[in-house]
Amino acid sequence: MCGTAGIASAITDGHASGSQCAHRAPGQYLRSTRWPRAHPFSGGVVIGMAVALNVELYVEMTHGFGVRKVTQTIKEVVHMKKVLAIAAVLLAMAGLASAQTVVGTAHDLSSTGPGATTNVGRVCVYCHTPHQATAANGQDPLWNHALSAVAAYGVYGSDTLDATPGELGGAVAGTAAVSNLCLSCHDGTVAVHSVWNAPNEAPINDNPANITIVAGGNVNAGGFITGNPNVGDDLTNDHPVNFTYDAALAGSDGGLVTPDSANSVDAAGLVPLFAGTVQCASCHDPHDDTNAPFLVVSNSGSALCTTCHNK
Ligand code: HEC
Ligand code: HEC
Ligand code: HEC
Ligand code: HEC
Repeated sequence: MCGTAGIASAITDGHASGSQCAHRAPGQYLRSTRWPRAHPFSGGVVIGMAVALNVELYVEMTHGFGVRKVTQTIKEVVHMKKVLAIAAVLLAMAGLASAQTVVGTAHDLSSTGPGATTNVGRVCVYCHTPHQATAANGQDPLWNHALSAVAAYGVYGSDTLDATPGELGGAVAGTAAVSNLCLSCHDGTVAVHSVWNAPNEAPINDNPANITIVAGGNVNAGGFITGNPNVGDDLTNDHPVNFTYDAALAGSDGGLVTPDSANSVDAAGLVPLFAGTVQCASCHDPHDDTNAPFLVVSNSGSALCTTCHNK
């Protein structure tokens, strides 16, 4: 079954490689190389040490509470405190090192996020739901945000363009492109807190209408993105998206890197392709603002551009 109600089908729609959905390009969201990925500050050693200390701490605790001798216990408690202090420092460092999360970024609309906030203490809910609610919204990847009704954005064109960008307007849940997911907030026509499946907890109680928003950053009181981050409903003046980028295109253009696979341009998988196509998320990772603004790699020295362009 495809895009219908039910947990099983929701999970199938979201994760399975053997999707039976004829309308969806297989493997569109299957990019095993994306998470985890190389990170300039990844503290593998630090985390390893912290984990080792945690194990030691656990052993100390079981031992400490199992032994009756008071002096022994006190000695162990003192030791435990030392271990705890070191572990806390190392864990804090590890936390800093692996800060690649959507929590706390401009994409965190929860009550504790920056910029615009809501009365919901959750973060992923504005974009994903663990279970699809109705047949009408079986959109990968477990998408939970109302899609834009813009009928035509237009596409970038030039005398030298070889690619054939596809029109993104008129998106329908189930067949929407990855870029439509971004445009569902960034074309400025749909409120950022407009979700399909609202949290089942007070005061929301499964009713999206109970979600309230406090304006902040570039989001107004209605929940609409304004100003610079509003990409708008005209894509003719933006870097092209929603087109196939493969060896044939690289060959005809002459100034492009040949993509490593249909999943990514580079062998490390940092600059992803979606079923062989360039989408907004080829350049932006909506979950990671390490390289602001949500870039998949640093663009220092235009490194993002030169991953694809031989210029
Ligand atoms: C502002 C919107 C937004 C928020 C918030 C968000 N995501 Fe996503 N997520 C997306 C978009 C868009 C995609 C598809 C593009 C992509 O894969 O980068 C995606 C893809 C995914 C995927 C599948 C592809 C992959 O990269 O592995 C997973 C899993 C995922 N998100 C998990 C999460 C979790 C867990 C949270 C909360 C901690 C979260 N997302 C919060 C927008 C969001
Ligand atoms: C649920 C709504 C929502 C979705 C979906 C969404 N965004 Fe955003 N995005 C926001 C909000 C809200 C902001 C913060 C706007 C502000 O206050 O400046 C933002 C900010 C950004 C910024 C600017 C960050 C900065 O620091 O200036 C980028 C870049 C961005 N989003 C890209 C994307 C891309 C690419 C996608 C899809 C992969 C996406 N977003 C999906 C809501 C969304
Ligand atoms: C080819 C790479 C690429 C693609 C594709 C791309 N972006 Fe960007 N985007 C960037 C870069 C680089 C910046 C930073 C520009 C700057 O600093 O002036 C940016 C900036 C932004 C910003 C911040 C506001 C601004 O204008 O500076 C938003 C929002 C955004 N992009 C959304 C999107 C959306 C939505 C899509 C898909 C329709 C998209 N991007 C596709 C590379 C890309
Ligand atoms: C994910 C790969 C990728 C990234 C990253 C990327 N581009 Fe592109 N870009 C392409 C492809 C593919 C085309 C289509 C080329 C063609 O068909 O002629 C294109 C088209 C363009 C064009 C239009 C070419 C024309 O003939 O009209 C320009 C200019 C451009 N990119 C500049 C940039 C810049 C600047 C950056 C960095 C901010 C960037 N690109 C990042 C893949 C990428």
